[in-house]
Amino acid sequence: SAPVFLDCDTGVDDSLALAYLVSSPAVRLVGVGTVSGNTSSEQAARNSLDLLALLGAAEVPVAIGARDHLAKAYDGGVPHIHGQNGVGGVDLPPSPHEPVEVSAARLLIEMSHEHTGDLHIVAIGPLTNLALALREDPTLPSRIRAVTIMGGAARAPGNITAVAEANIGNDPEAAAAVVEAGWDLTIVPLDVTMENVLHEEDRLALLASDVPAARALGEILDHYFDFYLPTYGTRSSALHDPLAAAVAAGGVTPTVAPRVPVVVDTTDGPGRGQTVVDLRGQRLGAVDHPGVRTRVVLATDRQLGPHLLEVITA
Ligand code: BDR
Ligand code: CA
Repeated sequence: SAPVFLDCDTGVDDSLALAYLVSSPAVRLVGVGTVSGNTSSEQAARNSLDLLALLGAAEVPVAIGARDHLAKAYDGGVPHIHGQNGVGGVDLPPSPHEPVEVSAARLLIEMSHEHTGDLHIVAIGPLTNLALALREDPTLPSRIRAVTIMGGAARAPGNITAVAEANIGNDPEAAAAVVEAGWDLTIVPLDVTMENVLHEEDRLALLASDVPAARALGEILDHYFDFYLPTYGTRSSALHDPLAAAVAAGGVTPTVAPRVPVVVDTTDGPGRGQTVVDLRGQRLGAVDHPGVRTRVVLATDRQLGPHLLEVITA
């Protein structure tokens, strides 16, 4: 199975992605780095450790990453979406494990040496740690097999501004560095994540599971479902981060994902944080631009929900 490094801001949907990656037989989670976004990088590490222990994967190293983003200090997260503690206000059983001593950027670099040529990075928070790792070691991309990120919006609107998605908009400078790094990059944007939805009946199935982590996830989702009620008109939620995890692990296959130029807007105007995706001539989504290594997922072969439930309740 393929080694995966997860960089995250755990986070309700990050929790689902973490559970999916631990439970999927296709991948092996070898390290976790955390970044501020939904909550602080420190709290995200706590949440990740607690979830890993509940998932029976307490040995996976967790490193605390950047508290502040490249151009601005951490602003306190989004407790109205992800709860006071990032995991919907649920008190998870505390893991006896502590974060490792090194930073998330450092752990990523170490893992890239341990798994040279094989390591897949899945990044589902602001891209600060990846940018710091690229700064610290510009040779990093040469040892990475592929990078999959949840972030941005191609044709869809943004979610923190009219055009910016949260992971990109919280640190556009970092996102620009990641997009320019020249590695094999897959972007899983709001265009597809908003179309993959978990419903109340799915949450009830999680609560009824005999897998303890699945039950905890059912509880964690409660608050998140309230937030999404006006968007979907029913108690449900988008599956942003788990979709990126499933695309990386091959559980969901992109059907429309052209390799096209992407520029991250780092200006200070109303476009700040937008992923400007060049989709000219893409009516069928099939025209790869020569020499471009970034692909943007615009459609997938199936809905994630049922597959996600199957993997995390197994
Ligand atoms: C992204 O922002 C975060 O709040 C979610 O965890 C997800 O990574 C969606 O825009
Ligand atoms: Ca996230």
